[in-house]
Amino acid sequence: MRQVDLHTPEHPLILVTGGMGYIGSHTVVELLQSGYQVIIVDNLSNSTVKVLDGIEKITGIRPYFENVDCLDYVALDKIFIKYIGIQAVIHFAARKAVGESVEKPLLYYRNNIASLINILELMPRHDVKHIVFSSSCTVYGQPKPEDLPVNEQAPIQPATSPYGNTKQINEEIINDTVHANIGINAIMLRYFNPIGAHPSAEIGELPIGVPNNLLPFVSQTAIGLRGELKIFGNDYNTPDGTCIRDYINVVDLAKAHVVALQRMLSDKMEEKVEVFNLGTGRGLSVMEIVKTFEQVNNVKVPYKIVGRREGDIEQVWADPTKANTVLGWKAQETVENTLQSVWRWEQKLKIKREQQIEESKLSE
Ligand code: UFG
Repeated sequence: MRQVDLHTPEHPLILVTGGMGYIGSHTVVELLQSGYQVIIVDNLSNSTVKVLDGIEKITGIRPYFENVDCLDYVALDKIFIKYIGIQAVIHFAARKAVGESVEKPLLYYRNNIASLINILELMPRHDVKHIVFSSSCTVYGQPKPEDLPVNEQAPIQPATSPYGNTKQINEEIINDTVHANIGINAIMLRYFNPIGAHPSAEIGELPIGVPNNLLPFVSQTAIGLRGELKIFGNDYNTPDGTCIRDYINVVDLAKAHVVALQRMLSDKMEEKVEVFNLGTGRGLSVMEIVKTFEQVNNVKVPYKIVGRREGDIEQVWADPTKANTVLGWKAQETVENTLQSVWRWEQKLKIKREQQIEESKLSE
């Protein structure tokens, strides 16, 4: 099925950069299911075009897709011209691997910062007034004990990686641009640790190579792709010695974008830039995650305790009160269900890999 026609006020047209990625694709699903029309702009640097099939299977709608790099100002300009009437931009497109950003800082600074600048320059040229920006709890660094759980007033700490720095700089760029009164307003969403997959297992996280994040590593270990999980340190000042994070279900996170968009499009914003923490309000340790994953999925996750990972924060979890009250959004999914969705997705990926092997044998 194609999308409905353009130019219908009941179905506002939303440009989603990075819409083929992990959080982006889940957000596209929620947008389509809420009646929005979506144009995805993505250069497929960390995703595949097959994500579109997953989105279509869930929603019955194939969103518009343009294989364009947000660094390409001219190509982006053409998108705004081609799809007249874009109402808002949700800007996900960014590189996100902390370790890689330390090795290749310029790649991160160029990509994450110049992309945003292109978008912000093009928006007023095409009369687009609203932007939702993907930020991160990384801006808080390690909050002081009295600041936990962290709310939006907690001090911003010096970034510990070029990736984290790009998020901070982007927040500053957005603040300065909005306050220059060029007719733009912005909602910046600070994500805690997104995990899980769509309950249909049609879309999920697609780590390329060895996963950096905890959950893909846990599920790949459980399915036998990795020998054992390395737990980075059990000598932290936490109840079981492992680090604590606020793990938020990716579908819950995606829904927050729809609510933020509705707030902007219905002119309900109280300030021209609003910031919201998106988390559950509950901190869980690495060990609790591993044990719960094993228990709810009835699988084993072989693990070994190793030394601390450089740059890791000991503990951080969100005070999501502002998002709960102002946006009217609240994380709904239990961690048990979320961890089951991770496992369903990992099993689906295994089936896909096996099918690919069969197909390549047949074509030999
Ligand atoms: N961990 C392990 N073993 C692994 C992977 C992770 O023990 O193989 C632990 C980490 O040490 C950490 C926890 O699991 O304690 C979560 O690690 P992730 O890499 O999944 O997530 P982080 O909290 O380190 O990183 C997230 C985002 C980043 C963001 C950062 C800010 O993925 O984009 O939060 O703190 F920059």
